[in-house]
Amino acid sequence: PEIMTVDALAEKIRKIPNWPQDGILFHDITPVLQSPEYFRLLVDLLTYRYMGQQIDAVAGLDARGFIIGAALAYQLNVGFVPIRKKGKLPYETISQSYALEYGEATVEIHKDAIKTGARVLLVDDLVATGGTMLAGVELIRRLGGNVVEACAILEFTDLSGAQKIRDNHVPLFTLLQNE
Ligand code: PRP
Ligand code: MG
Repeated sequence: PEIMTVDALAEKIRKIPNWPQDGILFHDITPVLQSPEYFRLLVDLLTYRYMGQQIDAVAGLDARGFIIGAALAYQLNVGFVPIRKKGKLPYETISQSYALEYGEATVEIHKDAIKTGARVLLVDDLVATGGTMLAGVELIRRLGGNVVEACAILEFTDLSGAQKIRDNHVPLFTLLQNE
């Protein structure tokens, strides 16, 4: 059997050239999710990092941040807050727009999702330009929450998104850097 390492986890991320459009090398995490061993490794690595850190809630970014974030919230025994793309949340929301690597987008959160002073962990699958993660940080902060850390599986160091996040005084943790 294969030895479970973070390097081996990196190998499980599938790269798809020119998707969803020309010039984009899409990083697909579904092979990680499909593997019982690697999905567990991923969730366990994050669980051990945050257990004991007095996290009050896990917020996940639509859509791939939901998968990791929900599993992590369950493990940490806290609630899960979805930050969704525009027009999906039924109750009163606040919204934040941001530029994507391809196109523009707006994300929203329910107004009552975060308690003032709550220690929130923000989760997504990857950080490219950092726009998505920062929009999430902004929403949590606007509701009075403290982002204890933003975490993702992967960051692209060459796109400086991670630097942009750290420049906004948000600690960022990624399991993998670059490829
Ligand atoms: C991808 C990825 C991150 C974001 C990173 O999501 O899952 O959320 O882009 O890019 P950024 O750092 O440049 O903002 P996408 O918006 O493609 O949607 P999805 O998660 O719903 O697939
Ligand atoms: Mg996403």
